[in-house]
Amino acid sequence: MTGLRKRYRGKTVTNNAVEGLDLEIADGALVTLLGPSGCGKTTTLRLIAGLERPDAGEITIDSRTMCAPARGVFVTPDRRPIGIVFQSYAIWPHMTVLQNVVFPLRVTRPHPSRRECRTRALASLELVGLADLAERPAPLLSGGQQQRVALARALIREPKVLLLDEPLSNLDAGLRDRMRDEIRALQQRLGITTVFVTHDQDEAMAISDEVVVMDSGHIVERGLPQEIYTWPRSQFTAQFLGVANEFEGTVARVSDTTVDVDLKYGRLQCHRSQSLSLGENVRVFVRPESFRLSRKYSEGAWEATVDFSIYHGDSWDYYVKVAEAPIRVRVYREKVGLSTGDTIFLTPDDAAIVIRADRSDDDPDTVDDHLRSEPVDATE
Ligand SMILES: Nc1ncnc2c1ncn2[C@@H]1O[C@H](COP(=O)(O)OP(=O)(O)O)[C@@H](O)[C@H]1O
Ligand SMILES: [Mg+2]
Repeated sequence: MTGLRKRYRGKTVTNNAVEGLDLEIADGALVTLLGPSGCGKTTTLRLIAGLERPDAGEITIDSRTMCAPARGVFVTPDRRPIGIVFQSYAIWPHMTVLQNVVFPLRVTRPHPSRRECRTRALASLELVGLADLAERPAPLLSGGQQQRVALARALIREPKVLLLDEPLSNLDAGLRDRMRDEIRALQQRLGITTVFVTHDQDEAMAISDEVVVMDSGHIVERGLPQEIYTWPRSQFTAQFLGVANEFEGTVARVSDTTVDVDLKYGRLQCHRSQSLSLGENVRVFVRPESFRLSRKYSEGAWEATVDFSIYHGDSWDYYVKVAEAPIRVRVYREKVGLSTGDTIFLTPDDAAIVIRADRSDDDPDTVDDHLRSEPVDATE
């Protein structure tokens, strides 16, 4: 899709739900749209499915144009090669499992025979491990089973693209992980191109070939899950991923692979993941697990005082203060035996994330201003 834009026009306000999305998805890949509630994930899926008409931009699936308002092209949802699972599942309670799954075939032209409908629905249910429940009334299903029915229904037309809108958000924690892995396994087995939507970063990291981070209708950045997690390139992503410790600093030295940043507490050598220039103001994010912690001072260590600690089963979080600034440190090994008021020394490793403080190329505000000055497309 290119330049995709959708604004919801209310009586008094216009809601910019999606603002100029450019996204190409490789055949057979699972791409996740990750972002906070209201950032435009569902709108994007609905645009791909044809349930919304964009104000501008184009969507192409397999080099077939699905919509292009500037050229008056719009393919209706029933003619698009897509299957969608809604966040709510949208299972019809007055139908059996089989009737629910068959439903999309009713709008398929030419209409398949009754027998073919049944065969295909059973095959689809087989894929999600529910063939045994075909005749069961839909209301008698558990949450996990409803989810599978919705998935079977989305797959029955053998779509080119599968769209999944927060499919796991209504499930209990344990089941959620299992269904996530099952969806991934099925997706890879069928080799079906999939757009998965979630606001849950762990889910996004676990399931995706690629993660697309969204904020306020824009793509903030995209990359492999491990890239996005390890070296987020924007403040938004770092904060959204919950990298707890954030500092302001100035670039003091740049080499090919590293950058030295002067923080209030001293100089820190960091991995360089983007171009930075000397004297530039930056933000430095340090994950809680990226500190070494010792009772003895060593060169470059930051002196800290322990506030309190929290035990997580596999780790301890120490909340400490360095010159009045709160810092969270995570330790996985046996408890160092620290108590409130103890003095310790922190050494951040070189996994600190350095982000330009005023990046203009992916700063949503800047893009917004640019788009605001554009005339609103009058194709609607
Ligand atoms: N039918 C609608 N009418 C008006 N505004 C809408 C409608 N659907 C969504 N929005 C608004 O568009 C923005 C994006 O919504 P949505 O795509 O649902 O986000 P997400 O799925 O990421 O939570 C939000 O500000 C939301 O309030
Ligand atoms: Mg949504």
